[in-house]
Amino acid sequence: MSLVITNIGSLVTNDANLGSGIVGELENASVVIEDGKIAWVGSSGSAPASDQTIDAKGMGVIPGFVDSHAHMVFAGDRSKEFEARMNGKKYSAGGIKSTVAKTRAASDAELDENFISLRNEMIRFGITTFESKSGYGLSVADEARSLAIAAKHTSETTFLGAHVVPEDYIGRADDYVDLVTGEMLEACAPNAKWVDVFCDVRAFDVDQSREILKAGIAKGLMPRIHANQLAQGGGVQLAVELDCASADHCTHLSSSDNDALAGSNTVATLLPGAEFSTRASYPDAKKLFAAGVTVALATDCNPGSSYTTSMSFCIAVAIRDMGFSLEQAIWSATMGGAKALRRTDIGALSVGMSADLSILSAPSFRHLGYRPGVDQISQVLKSGKTIYKHQDGIK
Ligand code: NIG
Ligand code: FE
Repeated sequence: MSLVITNIGSLVTNDANLGSGIVGELENASVVIEDGKIAWVGSSGSAPASDQTIDAKGMGVIPGFVDSHAHMVFAGDRSKEFEARMNGKKYSAGGIKSTVAKTRAASDAELDENFISLRNEMIRFGITTFESKSGYGLSVADEARSLAIAAKHTSETTFLGAHVVPEDYIGRADDYVDLVTGEMLEACAPNAKWVDVFCDVRAFDVDQSREILKAGIAKGLMPRIHANQLAQGGGVQLAVELDCASADHCTHLSSSDNDALAGSNTVATLLPGAEFSTRASYPDAKKLFAAGVTVALATDCNPGSSYTTSMSFCIAVAIRDMGFSLEQAIWSATMGGAKALRRTDIGALSVGMSADLSILSAPSFRHLGYRPGVDQISQVLKSGKTIYKHQDGIK
């Protein structure tokens, strides 16, 4: 069964050989999909005949967003904490503990339901691959069930037992690190692909973080890290030392952090929703791009610092406040995310890639920044199958 999408006004291929600019933009294009993969890309007029046709009617098509950083297993919300911050209170990550209490008290079914509702938001906002972390259980049983729930919905699961030191271990951080690297890792590894740690002031220091990531690596997990969100520190350097797939947040970077990232395979994943919702200053992506660092954009969806599932929102903020060009922002939200997950099958629309894409209700990807806050995702396909269609309209 083959499917052709014709009359695409602007197609983002993310393959510079196929079109113009870093996003390989092709105008008046078609793509053909076979067996869930891209089988042909070219000018609309010359597309081979296919069994089925979707007429894009001159609208834009982009690769599905790849959200490489989200925390989707939790209960409760922290809107009052957000309100206090907007009234001037500083973000300290202390609120994580209130989510831990709510998460521990929730049933598996409640956590699963909340997860599905966030996943459904992501899909309708054009996210076709997402990662999810544990990190609001912080006990062996609660971290293990968090990962079991996440693993039902995504293969990109991350063990974040080292999110903060929980209340019951205050003053005994080293005992908690022993638990995380021992019994907790043992219980969580079967449902985890990645290991992560919040390496920052008021969380885990560089030595603790190294120990935790190395324990995960020894257990077959791949490392990624929350680094340099609240302050400059050694998190980014540790990411490079351990060949982490990604160093996430990167809000406070020194020039040696930029240099270290530039000479590495570690992606800098920027999370505009976090700076937005914590009223932090934005990192300067221009410096990262100038140094040659690979940059990803992700939602960081979580109930505390960034309660959004909208990649389009993140793109708009990245363009407006973080120094991304329009092309860099769309690339980072698609191919950048794929690279942050070390995936080579998603993030681009060239022959052989998974047919994960969104048809926009706008003529090109430029409108994602140009029309902030407007829902412009009209249809979403994953592996060539339609998983969302905005068709009901206003009654
Ligand atoms: O990525 N920085 C650490 N973890 C989350 C925030 C967690 C929370 O505030 O609940 C983040 O921003
Ligand atoms: Fe996070």
